[in-house]
Parts: sequence; structure tokens; C-alpha cells
Amino acid sequence: MKNAPFTFELNPPEFIPSRYDNHITRRLSAMKGQYSNAAAFEAMLSKEDILLYEVYELKLPEVAGELLHGISIVHPGKVGDEYFMTKGHFHTVLDTAEVYYCQKGEGYMVMETPEGDWSVEALYPGAVLYVPPCWAHRSVNTSLAEDLITFFVYPGNAGHDYGTIEDQGFRTLVVEQDGEPAIVDNPRWTSPPVK
Ligand SMILES: [Fe+2]
Repeated sequence: MKNAPFTFELNPPEFIPSRYDNHITRRLSAMKGQYSNAAAFEAMLSKEDILLYEVYELKLPEVAGELLHGISIVHPGKVGDEYFMTKGHFHTVLDTAEVYYCQKGEGYMVMETPEGDWSVEALYPGAVLYVPPCWAHRSVNTSLAEDLITFFVYPGNAGHDYGTIEDQGFRTLVVEQDGEPAIVDNPRWTSPPVK
């Protein structure tokens, strides 16, 4: 825990923070049920539990007023036609926002609200993305050659709710069609119950 000002650096080409406390790695096995092509997922997993993405975090108190931040690195690749992506989450405190600043690569942030609104925004070096309160978010790397690297900042009390997304995924998928990224409907997704 830090209670004094500090500085660190994010430098190309790797953008690994010059200081960090946690290095989180997510492998294919952690994404079971998240990719629409289950057969492609199992075939890939039987060969290797490949590293999909990594997060470098600076540890800070998880309380309102703090700003948690770090770097997310999504590696290039696909499961079936679906690009490598992060797990995706709502914040546990739903009405908390997040800022992403893309450092390297190309991709999309796939977002949606509990009411079923959705949005997909492009990520490219220099892009600054504001994810408003109540929007679930997942980053997708649409390059098959390069990492997608983003710097993120969110409120210390936000927390992560992965379970809601694990149930049926996001409303939209980013897949390769004819060699290009395409945004398509998720066949597993159903509209939220009317309240
Ligand atoms: Fe978040």
C-alpha cells in the first residue's frame, strides 16, 4: 500500500510498468464457456493452456477516493473465429466508471448495460476511452500479430463482478469474417427480464 506520491513509467515497446505489485495472468482454461465455439475452445485447450492476457497492477487501498490503475496486455490470437479477449466485467459497485488509454495495438472495447444497451468502441494507440458508470466492459485484440495494450484507471471501491457476464456473455461478439473484424450478435445472449 502506498500513501505517498509516486511515479512510474510506461515505455514502448513493451509498456510493462517500471513498478507494479501484482502481475495477473489469464490462460485459456480461465475462459471456459466464454467463447461461442466450444469445440474450438476444447481443441485448443487440449494442445496448450495458452496465455491470453496479462494485467499489471499497482496495489492501492480498495476504497472510494483511491484510483486503481495498471496495464492490460491482450495477446493476439483467436478461438474459432473469435479474437482473444479479456473476461469482461461489471463493477460490483455498478455506478463506477473507468478510463482506458490505448498504448499499442488494435482492437475494440465491447460494452453493455444491465438494460441491454450496447456499444463497441475502437481501441488504437492514442485512443482514450471513457466507460461510463453501469457499463460492463471487455477488451478484444483484433490484431493477429501484435499485443493490445491499454492503461486503465478506475475508482478504488469499484470491485469486479465477473459472474453476470460468465452466465451468457456479452450481447455482441467480435469475430473474424473474411479476414476482417466484424461485430456480430451473440447467439447465446437473451434480453434482460423486464422490470
Ligand atoms: Fe473495470
